[in-house]
Amino acid sequence: MTTASAPGKIILFGEHAVVSGTTAIGGAIDLRATVRVIDEPGRVLITTEDLALQGFSFDLTAGHIHSVQAAHATRYISAVLRELDARDMRVDIKSSLPLAAGLGSSACIVVATVAAVSRHQGHSLSKKEIAEVSHRLEKTVQNGLGSPMDTALATYGGYLQIARDITPLDLPPLSMIVGYTGMPHDTRREVEKVQNLRKRYPELVDPIFQAIGAISRRSIPLIKEGNAAETGELMNINHGLLASLGVSSREMEELVYAARGAGGALGAKLTGAGGGGCMIALPGSAGLEPLLVALRQARAAAFQVTVGCEGVRLEAER
Ligand code: PMV
Repeated sequence: MTTASAPGKIILFGEHAVVSGTTAIGGAIDLRATVRVIDEPGRVLITTEDLALQGFSFDLTAGHIHSVQAAHATRYISAVLRELDARDMRVDIKSSLPLAAGLGSSACIVVATVAAVSRHQGHSLSKKEIAEVSHRLEKTVQNGLGSPMDTALATYGGYLQIARDITPLDLPPLSMIVGYTGMPHDTRREVEKVQNLRKRYPELVDPIFQAIGAISRRSIPLIKEGNAAETGELMNINHGLLASLGVSSREMEELVYAARGAGGALGAKLTGAGGGGCMIALPGSAGLEPLLVALRQARAAAFQVTVGCEGVRLEAER
């Protein structure tokens, strides 16, 4: 038996503008996908039992997919199993991340599966190899779409600065609240929307992108020195700029304002592509509890995360 786990992610600053080459900051979070590989002679079987993936069992050797949900999750996993020429094994997946919420759920499943299956086959892939294979596979399943950020964060963990290149950042862990609007988000649609706006109004959108990139860069020393007040302020400015690009929504604004108001957050912004998906909030002096309450009262699924967590790892056998 071989078990590996990999973390989900949030984008702290810089989404959308990063598509045009400015800086973004992402962080791995302590919600993980765990993949366990067990010998199963003559078959290749994928199972999952938890709520995030809504429980299914799928026999790749028999070739029937039972539900849309199963089809979605198995596309990623079976791409990995084909790539690694997996045989005679059962792959059990558990994930505590909501799907299609912008928290990198597919990337951490791919990365954990690559790590667990390759080790089970007796190979020792480096993190660089895991990140490369995983990015290529995720992109293939998503018809050529997908930045390397999610698979890189799931592999390396911590914080990454994404511009033309991906650079690790040495920053302390941050405690944040994630609020999920409950509306699945569609990254491709939101990216196209923003890029179309840019085509129509380059003289307006390019300076907004530049400002977003500047926010990302300014945030680095602030997070490093633990300056939560100014980090929060930058989150609020970043959110306003994203809203001006049309990627917020009424549901999202309600959560952002609930977090800043009753929740006492120092800052709140959408994270990822927007539309639906998630927002993040940095707790103020009253702590995490009022924020969780305020977001739940605003009908969000809200949970605490620690940002800057460890990347893919093999788990001890139990
Ligand atoms: O929706 P997510 O969390 O995968 O984030 C997308 C981030 C964008 O900047 C909007 C797109 C990208 O490829 O960087």
